[in-house]
Amino acid sequence: MILPIVAYGDSILKKKAEEISVGTSLSELIADMYETMYNAQGIGLAAPQIGKSIRLFITDGTVLKDEPQLQDFKKVFINPTILEETGQLWTMEEGCLSIPNIRENVSRKENVRIRYYDENWNLHEKTYTGMAARIIQHEYDHLEGILFVDYLSPLKKRMLKNKLLNISKGAISVEYRMRFPMASKARV
Ligand code: NI
Repeated sequence: MILPIVAYGDSILKKKAEEISVGTSLSELIADMYETMYNAQGIGLAAPQIGKSIRLFITDGTVLKDEPQLQDFKKVFINPTILEETGQLWTMEEGCLSIPNIRENVSRKENVRIRYYDENWNLHEKTYTGMAARIIQHEYDHLEGILFVDYLSPLKKRMLKNKLLNISKGAISVEYRMRFPMASKARV
């Protein structure tokens, strides 16, 4: 089932998400999240973006075929903890399914060491690098209530203010189903 993606401005995107009890059955939710993410052509999706403030995100970077590291990067991360971020800062344009039509440069460290459960509740501790690390860092931020636009300079943020407001209001053109926090009742 395709779920509506929560748009910028919704308070759930600013909240720290809750730990999930070990062993909880999540298979239906995970399947719905994948369907929702693929429908929106995303490479990562965090539970708060579909209105659930729980510590779960999914990725599928396998579409980025020129990145050898991403060839098997279809993964589910449950109750993740970032243990360490190392390496050089590198900059790349990021976007977010909750913030359509805005892409801006964000600097992040190269490597991330993360502990997490997979969809079968097996515990892993692993280091990811490059694009895989970046996807993890972006999605992990969602669980901490952080959005990529939070890293922009005050000037840049001011320049985007109206665009962001229009996203909250639903005054945008977007190909997938969304839930807008400031949509007027008349539109619904
Ligand atoms: Ni995002």
